Amino acid sequence: IKIAVFASGTGTNFVALAQHIKHHRLPIQITHLICDQPQATVITRAREFKVPVWVHQLKEFKDKTEYEQTILQCLQEDQVQLIVLAGYMRIVTNTLLNAYPRAILNIHPALLPAFPGRHGIEDALLAGVKITGVTIHYVDAGVDSGPIIAQQPVKVLPHDDLASLANRIHQVEHQLYFDSLCQVLQDKKLLK
Ligand code: GRF
Repeated sequence: IKIAVFASGTGTNFVALAQHIKHHRLPIQITHLICDQPQATVITRAREFKVPVWVHQLKEFKDKTEYEQTILQCLQEDQVQLIVLAGYMRIVTNTLLNAYPRAILNIHPALLPAFPGRHGIEDALLAGVKITGVTIHYVDAGVDSGPIIAQQPVKVLPHDDLASLANRIHQVEHQLYFDSLCQVLQDKKLLK
């Protein structure tokens, strides 16, 4: 099974996925890391796992369509079956959505539809909710809005600050994303 991971940042979810796949000896190959930030730490992480890295900034292309078409060509050459967004800070548009219907996953650090957008953890903390969590969902044209695949709650503790809450959310993310990926691949009859 061939998957591509898209990321723009630190890459702890990339590492968690790559480690789980290796540890469980699953027939899943991460054929590409697609990255839009040349300085992102995730690039180093991918190279450590010998995953080929495609790194280009959107501004190198005429427009978003040309950018996504270039990525799509890359994925199709390698017959990538599923796209996994892991801290990819861009909206995915029709070029990729139409080529991968119900085959693009995203992870969000809040219980959607609550607290979508870039600051899900901070927004939940500022709102004073007692429970937030993690959502895995299919990607559609909106921001953090596609059909939900899995959710797991995380309690906000009285003494939590952004760092402590983010840390517990990330722990949950690292397991839940892998479990959800396996579930999706099983539902698609790609994995036993
Ligand atoms: C995660 O919190 C994820 O939910 C959000 O972006 C963050 C990526 O973290 N979409 P990392 O780069 O995987 O460490």
